[in-house]
Amino acid sequence: MKQSYFITGTDTNVGKTWATLTLMAYFKKQNLSVVGMKPVASGCEKISGEWRNSDALAIQKMGSEFVDYSLLNPFAYELPISPHLAGKKNPVDLETVFTNFQTLQNLADVLIVEGAGGWYAPLNENETIADLAKKLNVPIILVVSIKLGCINHTLLTTEAIKNAGLNCIGWIAVCNDEMFDCVDLTIESLVARLKIPLLGILPYSKTANFEFFAQQIQFD
Ligand SMILES: Nc1ncnc2c1ncn2[C@@H]1O[C@H](COP(=O)(O)OP(=O)(O)OP(=O)(O)O)[C@@H](O)[C@H]1O
Ligand SMILES: [Mg+2]
Repeated sequence: MKQSYFITGTDTNVGKTWATLTLMAYFKKQNLSVVGMKPVASGCEKISGEWRNSDALAIQKMGSEFVDYSLLNPFAYELPISPHLAGKKNPVDLETVFTNFQTLQNLADVLIVEGAGGWYAPLNENETIADLAKKLNVPIILVVSIKLGCINHTLLTTEAIKNAGLNCIGWIAVCNDEMFDCVDLTIESLVARLKIPLLGILPYSKTANFEFFAQQIQFD
């Protein structure tokens, strides 16, 4: 049975890439073949004449199967700004994303797609991450950075996902704010308010050990 998941977050910089790489490591450990996708990426550098994004490169590297870069990241923008601004000359086209998504689905047992920014991040003049997720129509996993304000952002995002008619199957807590000293109570408060299961907590860690992080995931 093929599985695909769309990874969104409460904001930009909340740990979506680390959670994506963790889930890829988790599924590889289950002896499943895994590929990932970062369809829209802002903030790229030129490598051998081509725009490359660090999230997309990490996702390419974590895959158990080789995937051509342009397939997993069709919209790679130089500037680290919102895609609707960065991509004015070459705006995101959801049909292209969907075609690549279907090709990638056929390459492995599991496909993990990392969004960009938060749920309503604009991708072009009239579409957002919510529209991309609706187009792919796969289960959503929400990544929450545990910090002040995250309860509000989480409740807003889960409500918006529900209103889109999509299924948020779980959330992942990423403890990437070293200064925040109310981690456990904040996670407890979220668990008490959310109907969706907590799939795992990625503790604060200076080094990215995805084998270790994968052991923190519980996925039924
Ligand atoms: N468990 C963790 N411990 C410490 N730092 C972390 C942890 N997880 C993520 N980070 C750090 O938090 C920052 C954001 O993580 P990440 O790049 O995964 O976020 P993102 O939501 O994918 O961002 P973007 O919107 O740019 O794609 C990075 O600097 C990363 O190194
Ligand atoms: Mg990312």
